[in-house]
Amino acid sequence: MILIEPILTIQHVKKDFHHQPVLKDISFTIPKGSIFAILGLNGAGKSTLLHIIMQILLPTSGKVQMNGKPILKDKIGVVFQENTLDEELTIYENLVLRGRLYQIKRKQLHQRIMYLAKELGMESYLDKKYKHCSGGQKRIAMIARALLMNPEIIIMDEPTTALDIEARKKVWDYLLKLNKEKNLTIFYSSHYIDEASLATNLCILNKAKIVFNGTYKDLITKYSNKHLEIDLQNNTLKKEINSVSTAISYLNKLDFNKINTFSLKNSNLEEIFLKLVQNENSCI
Ligand SMILES: Nc1ncnc2c1ncn2[C@@H]1O[C@H](COP(=O)(O)OP(=O)(O)O)[C@@H](O)[C@H]1O
Ligand SMILES: [Mg+2]
Repeated sequence: MILIEPILTIQHVKKDFHHQPVLKDISFTIPKGSIFAILGLNGAGKSTLLHIIMQILLPTSGKVQMNGKPILKDKIGVVFQENTLDEELTIYENLVLRGRLYQIKRKQLHQRIMYLAKELGMESYLDKKYKHCSGGQKRIAMIARALLMNPEIIIMDEPTTALDIEARKKVWDYLLKLNKEKNLTIFYSSHYIDEASLATNLCILNKAKIVFNGTYKDLITKYSNKHLEIDLQNNTLKKEINSVSTAISYLNKLDFNKINTFSLKNSNLEEIFLKLVQNENSCI
């Protein structure tokens, strides 16, 4: 097995709000170059954890590090759950403002903005005031801002909420290209199951605790059941089983002449996710 070194290390992070625990002893690492999704129902603690990693909230205890050192804000690209650019400026002006903050030269900054506008499909509304942009356009501008400084890692809280299917595809195509070509680590929270399935690594939070942390493959191997569905002449039989051989021996007990069709499918990510977050006692 190849061990990939972590870019982020989250160690024993706890967070209380008004003496109520919102994160209870969270520890995990994010491998360099991974596409890492954090999943959980509303209120699970995803944004709180991301805010701690983004350095805008202090943990009650525990620490987060990047490459073994305290996290520096200019080394990470962040996309908050809320759209937070200056409403009175255009998207272009917002991006210039951000770049000037980090002292990028004007010409270089202009080229960088135009390049990102093309890759993210932002060209037609680059000169629109932020307050006049649609929710989806604002979201893409937030992502562009996060990528402006060529970060090693982009951390995004529900990045594609409000994006239509076409815009979501465009954004993800570009992020995946950066992952592949520049080894950009992508760390994001989501409640879209199809978006979660893009991830190489998954961490599922439920009621302030981690209930699963591992690769997408681990999750499927560990929790996926097989669903056997047999369409008979006068009824349909549905059974949850754990192996192909069980399915075959089950089918063998039936009269083949009465079977119209049958199918054997693995549980999908949504079913596994619900099973994990609905089981009060589930925990790694
Ligand atoms: N600033 C805050 N003060 C008090 N409670 C908060 C604050 N921020 C979040 N919470 C609470 O912490 C819990 C987790 O919230 P959050 O991290 O936003 O969850 P998620 O992003 O998974 O939906 C919720 O119960 C929420 O009400
Ligand atoms: Mg949230």
